[in-house]
Amino acid sequence: MRKKMRSVVALILAAACFFTACSGGLTKVTGTVIEENFDGSTKYWRENGDCKVTVSNGEAVISDRKTSNAGIEFPCDAFRGNTINVTVFAKSANPTVRISLRYEIYGNISYVTIAETSVLETSYLPIIGDITIPANASDPVVYIEATDVMDISVKSVKIEVTGDYNDLTSTPVDALQDPSGYESLKDLYSDYFMVGSAIPATVIDNPNPEFLQLVDVEFNSVTPENELKPENVLDAETTLADPATYNECPALDFTAAKPILDYCQENGLKMRGHTLIWYSQTPSWLFFENYDVNGTLASRDLMLTRMENYIDSVMNWCEENYPGVIYAWDVVNEAAGDNGGMRDCYWKMTVGDDYVEKAFEFARLHAPDGVQLFYNDYNSYSPNKQQVIIDMLTPIAEAGNIDGMGMQSHISSGLQPDSYIEAMNRYADELGVVIHITELDVSAPPSANPYYDQGVYMKSLFEALIDAVDNGTPLECVTFWGLTDDMSWKSSELPLLFYGNLAPKPAFEGVVCAIKGGDVTKPEDYVEVADDFTPISEDYEDQEFIGGPRYSSTQAIVGNAYDGDYCLENSGGSAEYDGYSIDVSRFIGQSIHFSFAVKSNADMVCFTADIDGSWPHLCEVDTSGGDWVFYEGDYQVPSGMTNLSVYFESSDTSSFYLDDLTIEVN
Ligand code: G3I
Repeated sequence: MRKKMRSVVALILAAACFFTACSGGLTKVTGTVIEENFDGSTKYWRENGDCKVTVSNGEAVISDRKTSNAGIEFPCDAFRGNTINVTVFAKSANPTVRISLRYEIYGNISYVTIAETSVLETSYLPIIGDITIPANASDPVVYIEATDVMDISVKSVKIEVTGDYNDLTSTPVDALQDPSGYESLKDLYSDYFMVGSAIPATVIDNPNPEFLQLVDVEFNSVTPENELKPENVLDAETTLADPATYNECPALDFTAAKPILDYCQENGLKMRGHTLIWYSQTPSWLFFENYDVNGTLASRDLMLTRMENYIDSVMNWCEENYPGVIYAWDVVNEAAGDNGGMRDCYWKMTVGDDYVEKAFEFARLHAPDGVQLFYNDYNSYSPNKQQVIIDMLTPIAEAGNIDGMGMQSHISSGLQPDSYIEAMNRYADELGVVIHITELDVSAPPSANPYYDQGVYMKSLFEALIDAVDNGTPLECVTFWGLTDDMSWKSSELPLLFYGNLAPKPAFEGVVCAIKGGDVTKPEDYVEVADDFTPISEDYEDQEFIGGPRYSSTQAIVGNAYDGDYCLENSGGSAEYDGYSIDVSRFIGQSIHFSFAVKSNADMVCFTADIDGSWPHLCEVDTSGGDWVFYEGDYQVPSGMTNLSVYFESSDTSSFYLDDLTIEVN
C-alpha cells in the first residue's frame, strides 16, 4: 500500500518542476527526488567540513576527514515542510555511519539524526531513514557523517519526498512566543529534583532573547549538548602538528564551551558536564602512537596516561575558570553494548576491559571537591542492559569512585513508568548511587491525537517520578534533551515540551499537571477514537501489506507462497532485529490470538513486541528445516502504554518469508 501511494505521488508530481537555486555548480533539483550515483551525470552534493572527496567509478571516497561530521552534503531547500526518505549506500571502517539533517531555525542550528547503521569496511550497506523538514527551516541539508574520522565511501544517495508534496517555499514564520509568564518547572519541582535542559551553543548568542528567557524561567540545570564532548575539546590542529610534545597529554581548546560556561556562571545556573570518556565523537588519532592513524595503536600504559591527563585537565580547567559551575560529570558515556557485554571501542581495545574502572579511578582522584561522578547510558531501563551496567559498575561503586547513574531516557510512551522506576531503584540500591535522568525526550505516539496523548503520558510519567521520590528513590535531576521540537536531534518525533516557536505543548502541561493537579486540556480538534479491535489479516494475494521496515530491512511481495500465489519477503537487514514491523496499538491491554506461516534460511524466526526497553518474544519458531512452518499462539498485550508495534525478526540476517498472518482479539 505504502509503495503504491509513493508511486502515485511521484506520477502526480512528475509534472511539477521546481528547483533550488544552487551555487558552486550543483545540479538543479527538479521534481521530488534527488538521485546521485557519482557517475558524473549529476552533482547534487558539495563538501562539508575538512575532508577530501574523490569521485571515480561510480563512488565517492571521502578521506582525510578531520572531524567526525566531515563528508558530503545535499542541499534540500525545495523539500522544506516535507517528509523525505533518504537511502544511502555506504561502506567504511568507522563503526557507524550516520545520515543527518542540518537546518537553521529561529537563529539556532539544529542537527537531527535521520538514521545510523553499523557498516562494513568491504561491502556496501544501505542506511535508510525518514525525516520531516520543518516548514520554517532555512538552508536544510542532508549530510553523511560518522562516529569517527576514518574514510567513508558512498555509492549512491537517494532523497525522495514521501506523501503529497507541500510547496512551502514562501511559508511565513510563526512569531516566537514570550515565555516569561509560563509556569516554572524548576520552582514547581523544587522539593523534588532539579529540572534541566540540554542547550546547543547557538542558543547563547541567538538574536532572539526568548530562548534564554525560556531557560531562565524553566530550568536550574543546563547540559551543553555538544560543546564538552572530546571532539570539541581536543585541539586536533595543535596536537597533530607536534605529536612529540603532546604525546602524553593532547592539547585542549575550550573555545566551543566557553560561551555556555560564561552564561551559566553569569546567571547562577548549574551545569552537568557531558562527557569525558565516550566511544563516539572522539577522534581515532587519540588512540595511536604519535597520534598517527596509519601507525600502531598506543599501548595500555600510554592510553592510561592520556586518559588520566585528559580527565584531570578538562575537569580542572572548568573548575579553575568557572568555579562551582559544573556540579556533575558524565565520566563515561555509553560503554555498555546493545547486545550484552561491553561495547567494542578504541578505549576497550587499547586499555582493556577495565577502562571504565580506570576512568572513574582517575576522575575520583582529580575531581574538584563536591563534583559528582556519573555513568550515563541509553536504554538503561531495559533488563538486559541493566545487568550489564550493574556488573560493570559494581567494582567501581565498591571502590567508592562513582556517585550517580545517568539514565538518558530517549523513550516513547511505550515505556511503562513502573518498570522505569524499578530500574532506578535497582541502580540506587545495588550500587548505592543517586539517579539523574539526563537526556529525557518522549517520542509522540503515532495516534490520532499525538500531542494530547503525549501530554497525558508525560503527566503519568512525572506522577510516577514524584511518587518514587516520595518513596525514597534518590532522583536528583531531570534534564530534557533540548528546548523545542525543532531543535531536537529527533525532531520528527516531536519529543520535547515546546513547539518550535516556544509555545508550550500539552507535554509541558502534563509535567505541570503532575505536580499541581488537573488534567491535560483536550484540544478542540480532538479526534474521538472508538475501541477498534478490527483483526489484522494479511495473505498478500492483493500484493499489499500494512506493516513496514524495522530499521534497514526491505519488504517485497514475492511468489512461492505458503498459500495462494504471493507471500511477503523481508530482506536486506544489517542486523537480526531489522525485520517486518506492524502497529498493533489498538490491541493494547487485550488478549490476542495470532497465527502465521514463516520460512527462512535462518535457524529461527521470532515474533517480538517492541516495548520501549524490552523486547519480549511472543514466540520463537524453529525454521532450521528450511520449509514453511505454520504457528499460532496467544499473548496478553500489556496495558499502560499508548502505542505498540510487533515485529518479525530472524536469528541471523537471512531473508525470511511470511504468509497468512492474522492477529485478533481473543
Ligand atoms: O559542529 C559541527 C559543525 O561545525 C559542522 O558544520 C556540522 C556539519 O554539518 O556538524 C556539526 O556537528 C554536529 C554536532 O552535533 C554539533 O556539535 C554533528 O554533525 C551532529 O551529529 C552532532 O549531533 C549530536 C550527537 O549527539 C552526536 O554527537 C546531537 O546534536 C546531540 O543531541 C547528540 O546527543 C547525544 C548525547 O551526547 C549522548 N546520548 C545520545 C544523544 C543523542 O544522540
